[in-house]
Amino acid sequence: MSTQMQAPDTAQNGAQRRDTVTVIDNRTGESYELPITDGTVRGIDLRQVRTSPEDFGLMVYEPGYANIASCRSAITYLDGERGILQHRGYPIEQLAEHSTYLEVAYLLIHGELPTSAQLEEWRHEVTIHTFVHENVKRFMQGFRHDAHPMGMLLGSVGALSTFYPDANEIEDPENRAIQTVRLIAKMPTLAAFAFRHSRGQPYVYPDNDLRYSGNFLSMMYKMTELKYQPDPRLERALEVLFILHADHEQNCSTSAVRGVGSSHVDPYSAVAAGVAALYGPLHGGANEAVLRMLNRIGDKRNIPDFLRGVEEGKERLMGFGHRVYKNYDPRARIIKSAADDVFEVTGRRSPMLEIALELERIALEDEYFVARKLYPNVDFYSGMIYEALGLPVEMFPVMFAIGRTAGWVANWLEQVQDPEQRIARPRQIYTGSRDRDYVPIEQRG
Ligand code: SDX
Repeated sequence: MSTQMQAPDTAQNGAQRRDTVTVIDNRTGESYELPITDGTVRGIDLRQVRTSPEDFGLMVYEPGYANIASCRSAITYLDGERGILQHRGYPIEQLAEHSTYLEVAYLLIHGELPTSAQLEEWRHEVTIHTFVHENVKRFMQGFRHDAHPMGMLLGSVGALSTFYPDANEIEDPENRAIQTVRLIAKMPTLAAFAFRHSRGQPYVYPDNDLRYSGNFLSMMYKMTELKYQPDPRLERALEVLFILHADHEQNCSTSAVRGVGSSHVDPYSAVAAGVAALYGPLHGGANEAVLRMLNRIGDKRNIPDFLRGVEEGKERLMGFGHRVYKNYDPRARIIKSAADDVFEVTGRRSPMLEIALELERIALEDEYFVARKLYPNVDFYSGMIYEALGLPVEMFPVMFAIGRTAGWVANWLEQVQDPEQRIARPRQIYTGSRDRDYVPIEQRG
């Protein structure tokens, strides 16, 4: 949830409003007036609330940082109650309908929609940086034949930091710019190489005559033909999917990029941390988990039993629920409509779709889900599109990573230029032992 509070000019009692909150410590009777800035109070301001001069003072304990703003950002605005998602102020619905992924990536990174000249230059820069060093290919060929593509992507993105050792010069704007282009350009190449590896097929090099998504399809599916001809309808479907996954405020993987990036490491290492976080089934791995769940349900007749297991806490309805959205994820609605276009092209209407639609229908009426405001999220339908494209479930989070690279890079750039930002170093509540003397091994047990 992004805070953008607009409080009234006078308090309810008619007094001149003061942007402060008063805290009374009932342990001491002391009261403290804390300033409110942008709808937040600073955690560090609570340290003055103490019972004695020796007391450390209050901290904020919030597992998962559920109500903690970690940064100021102008990239993405979310309103979870209203199901609003905007990138640099532009609604996701309009970007998905009118824009392209590279244009949205430019918008996220530079803050404005590009002019035609800027877009052409941006597209040219990305296109000429799609190749990776041959040793990266050899590195990837070292993985097991059945290595999970997300594990391969995680390893190869991190490995890129060794091929561009100057990337740690993060204070240099020109250096930041070229690393930004390389990350946007090479992620599809690494993703496609991982896919081809998993199929035991030769890796396909980029084709610079093709646009971003068409080139990705070529690197994924080109066989013996001299030149791969991507279906424009599939290209468009991929563009929409990449746009919908481009950024999403301070989600788990973007927070990981910012957290690792706060140590001033190079952007490849920071983005590799984002890939690692996205790999998890509660985050980007959810689209893979949704298909596995639907396969496990197998038939609409099994849905009531499955949902009973969910309500008993034995299962999770993957693809449902969200930390921020307590309404329908606007991206899920768009993906659901894009699915029909893909099924028309591929002629492969996912057999799981019927189960998913029935699951959604029942869940949206079921008290357990209604009470917890659990709605379909971006991952609930995306997997069925990927499946219709012939992708194995292991590739689903990889597709998410391609789109999210723009958001990761935009947040990394924003952070390294934010004078307020410091190295990420949270505190803890210590629950362990204290002041114990060492016990010689013969006296243990
Ligand atoms: C993404 O942050 C982002 O923006 C993420 C993302 C992005 O673009 O970056 O939108 C992409 O990660 C989407 C989410 C994909 N994950 C899933 O679909 C996995 C299934 N969903 C969840 O596990 C869960 O909903 C989370 C992780 C998404 C959110 O978890 P929270 O906010 O920590 O919520 P919670 O786990 O505290 O749940 C609150 C209640 C609990 O019930 P009670 O303990 O109060 O009784 O809701 C229940 C949970 O048990 N609940 C679910 C559920 N999700 C939450 N119960 C069943 N099935 C679910 N899916």
